[in-house]
Amino acid sequence: MKNNNIILMGFMGVGKGSLARELSKLTGRVSIDTDDLIESMENTRIKKIFEKEGEAHFRAIEKKLSHWLEQSVKDAIISTGGGFFHVGNLQEIGHVIYLESSFNAILDRINTFENAKKKLKKRPLLKNIAKAKELVSERHPKYMACADTIIQTEGKSSQQIAKEIIKNVIEKNAETEAK
Ligand code: S3P
Repeated sequence: MKNNNIILMGFMGVGKGSLARELSKLTGRVSIDTDDLIESMENTRIKKIFEKEGEAHFRAIEKKLSHWLEQSVKDAIISTGGGFFHVGNLQEIGHVIYLESSFNAILDRINTFENAKKKLKKRPLLKNIAKAKELVSERHPKYMACADTIIQTEGKSSQQIAKEIIKNVIEKNAETEAK
């Protein structure tokens, strides 16, 4: 039995965090973010974890966190880091939503922010744009394989996407459970 969480999955910069906050506001559910939790667990920034201990260490913390989410978190909105799909137990944690977008639309989105440079800098895997583009293509089938629901995000606001998720996922799941 799933824990009734909503898991937001997708590439860096697609808007998982903003969407989680919007969904939280509209549904009253608590939203949490795996990167924020990891920064608290390690008492440092993601960027520093990559620099000092390497990506493998970061992935191991994600895995540890995924067990805690499965055991301890219910009815929440969970936004995940772009590589969190590797943990292997997403299905046990909740309903997995893949937020799909082309890489160009993601870059356009990031560049609309005043602090775009900061947003790019804090993500080690976005440092090299050519490599990040390859990573999008490599990950797309993996995201698809983990997803319960796929949502196209291009050209939509967080509020529009949140309303789509409430109607097509949260309300439908509640109806199914009530039967
Ligand atoms: C990563 C995405 C980042 C963060 C880390 C690794 C990835 O999170 O977890 O830098 O592998 O795609 P966001 O998707 O929130 O940027």
